[in-house]
Amino acid sequence: MILLTSLKSQTKLAAWRVVVRTLKVAVVGAGGGIGQPLSLLLRRCPGIDELALHDIADMKGIAADLSHVSQTGKVVGFTGEPELEPAVSGADVVVVAAGMPRLPGMQRDHLMAANGNVAVKVATAVSNASPRALLAFITNPVNMIVPTAAEALKAHGTFDPRRLFGITTLDVVRSKKFIGDSMNISPDEVKIPVIGGHAGITILPLISQCQPRYRCDPQEIHKLTHRIQEAGTEVVNAKAGKGSATLSMAFAGATFVNSLLRAIGGQEGLVECAFVASELTDAPFFASPLELGKDGIKGYVPLPQLSDYEKEALEKLLPILRQNADEGVSFARTFL
Ligand code: LMR
Repeated sequence: MILLTSLKSQTKLAAWRVVVRTLKVAVVGAGGGIGQPLSLLLRRCPGIDELALHDIADMKGIAADLSHVSQTGKVVGFTGEPELEPAVSGADVVVVAAGMPRLPGMQRDHLMAANGNVAVKVATAVSNASPRALLAFITNPVNMIVPTAAEALKAHGTFDPRRLFGITTLDVVRSKKFIGDSMNISPDEVKIPVIGGHAGITILPLISQCQPRYRCDPQEIHKLTHRIQEAGTEVVNAKAGKGSATLSMAFAGATFVNSLLRAIGGQEGLVECAFVASELTDAPFFASPLELGKDGIKGYVPLPQLSDYEKEALEKLLPILRQNADEGVSFARTFL
């Protein structure tokens, strides 16, 4: 794998070429609060020949509904555990939104008992039916789910670190929105890497690297960082027992999958942040900007020079990520 030389490549998007290959995308958990809007947004992605929608509940209705959207490609529904393998069979990308959401007072880690088996089951199905798929998890706790899935893939002899992702795009989406609003510019104009993980203080927006430059005092940086880190909890509390972010998560998930599809289709210079197996730090899984290619991760963007505040925050989050990874691996081993 190539270690990229400059974070500048984050902005260097080559011209988008027409996707010549047709692609299959499978959404696991497609009937849920994230899965439905995510599947709808994916209908707008170019090049998808088959959108396979899987959930435990009957998917016939949702598949019929989405199949009427005037876009090319077919939509097929798959229901229940026996249909998980057929759903992901031959998929180029499998995106997983299945699992329970947080309730007020819960941390994401508390979801491991309910959602950990999703990682094992999907990794097993992908190993059996589409071992070359790019596999991307939205399911929380992402910091543990991805190590769990990696361990399950290893047990099946199909682990390829380039092909497994935890989707952290919502942290970038939120950073762009909050900073864009604060600078009175469009969020689309804001470029900011978010590193670490996807829970509390493991989410580290690198405000020092923001483009255009975000000028503010240290207190404001601390406040903004905290708001980004706790944005998921802000939604959980606002939903007051009715779950966590679904629509903004679907937007983020579709943004990430769209980039994966474009990379598979041959577009170059695409950079997205995601939580992946990594050697950039001493945490075995770490979110950072990645260059995407036909086979998933093409290169890891090296970490830039961090501010003192960011250095300190990174030191604090790494032990948490190491512990999360250990817990994820142990969880997988109880199943395998
Ligand atoms: C989010 O960031 O909104 C999601 O990870 C859901 C959650 O539990 O906060």
